Amino acid sequence: MEEENVVQIKDLYLNFYTYDGVVKALDGVSFGIKKGEILGLVGETGSGKSVTSLSVLSIFVPPGRLQKGQIDINIKGKKYDILSLNDATMARVRGKYVSMIFQEPRAALNPVYTVGDQISEVYFHHRKAELVDNTIAQLREDLKKASGLRRTIYRADLSLLEKMKNNPKSVSLRLSMKIPLLNRFQNRIKTEARKMIVQMLKSLNIPDPARVIDMYPHELSGGMAQRAVIAMSLACNPMMLIADEPTTSLDVTVQAQILLLIKDLQKKFHTSILYVTHDLGVVAETCDRVVVLYAGNVAEIANVFDLYKKPLHPYTQALLESIPRPGHKFISIRGIVPSLVDPPKGCRFYDRCDYTQEKCLHIEPQLVEVEKDHFVACHLHYGGS
Ligand SMILES: Nc1ncnc2c1ncn2[C@@H]1O[C@H](COP(=O)(O)OP(=O)(O)O)[C@@H](O)[C@H]1O
Ligand code: SF4
Ligand SMILES: [Mg+2]
Repeated sequence: MEEENVVQIKDLYLNFYTYDGVVKALDGVSFGIKKGEILGLVGETGSGKSVTSLSVLSIFVPPGRLQKGQIDINIKGKKYDILSLNDATMARVRGKYVSMIFQEPRAALNPVYTVGDQISEVYFHHRKAELVDNTIAQLREDLKKASGLRRTIYRADLSLLEKMKNNPKSVSLRLSMKIPLLNRFQNRIKTEARKMIVQMLKSLNIPDPARVIDMYPHELSGGMAQRAVIAMSLACNPMMLIADEPTTSLDVTVQAQILLLIKDLQKKFHTSILYVTHDLGVVAETCDRVVVLYAGNVAEIANVFDLYKKPLHPYTQALLESIPRPGHKFISIRGIVPSLVDPPKGCRFYDRCDYTQEKCLHIEPQLVEVEKDHFVACHLHYGGS
């Protein structure tokens, strides 16, 4: 695992067992995600973008089954093999270190809870210590100004909060949580969570956050709902964010705002982002590096500048040529993606490629670094192996 990589995916093979046969959806996918970068994962529909990104969270939706592979994640300098973690540890990694946002924001929001309720859930789970610290600080301020009975009550609250911080399992604390008159300090924690959430919504350019926090998902526009989901994913300050086509269901102006927001967040928090999209225009605007997937294989990996200036894989070249441009004839990639039930033995792009050679039919091209930090899986560039 390279030092600066937060995630290293190695040789993932994943099949779907369907009535039509075994779909070989991922066929030896390998790449790393560097600390603080936005890595684009691009390819046509069905190329394996979603299953690859879900596997980083160790999520394999039946009938999908991982055949082979390894995913290492680097948390605070320590390496964990994600696929061998037990469920409880993996749940912690998911909530605390790696977050995911999906294409359809409303599917990620619970319709019966307000935005504030849903985000505070994440705070209570993952940032409780910070919440209690903030509440104690606020209570100390209030105590300075209080007198008489109020002062006595504040002192009692403070003592319970300090117990919560130092000994969360203490019997007296657990008892007081159950007695309505004594559990007032919990309302203070909720108020503090609310302040933190309003601040977070503000940083996501959500207008009138004090109102939005009390809204239900159906009251939000598509762009606003996606921002709320992003707020939820960022509530635990993850070191890594996976965004699976997060702007596809939004209109173009809102899409541009969300892209700007994601870039801003990456700068502000140095979060590593895996940005999944089929749109190379979005990649050019947003990403630092790109992984091009084709039919379950990595075709090319390069930084954005090199990929656009000098694409090496015939598929990447065709993808770039198929971006609609004013004044240019629209060129689509000829042919269709091969069936993954019985994929070609050699290069999976064979039927659609203009540069085929004999060996392309029989020998699967391996991903090789042909220029510095520029990897390609194509016989044209290394003479085959
Ligand atoms: N539930 C499923 N059952 C059968 N095949 C599936 C299922 N989900 C995905 N696949 C197959 O896995 C491949 C990759 O899918 P996916 O990762 O969703 O692609 P992408 O996100 O790039 O559009 C596709 O060929 C698709 O047909
Ligand atoms: S390996 Fe052969 S078929 Fe595949 S992209 Fe390269 S030239 Fe085309
Ligand atoms: Mg997808």
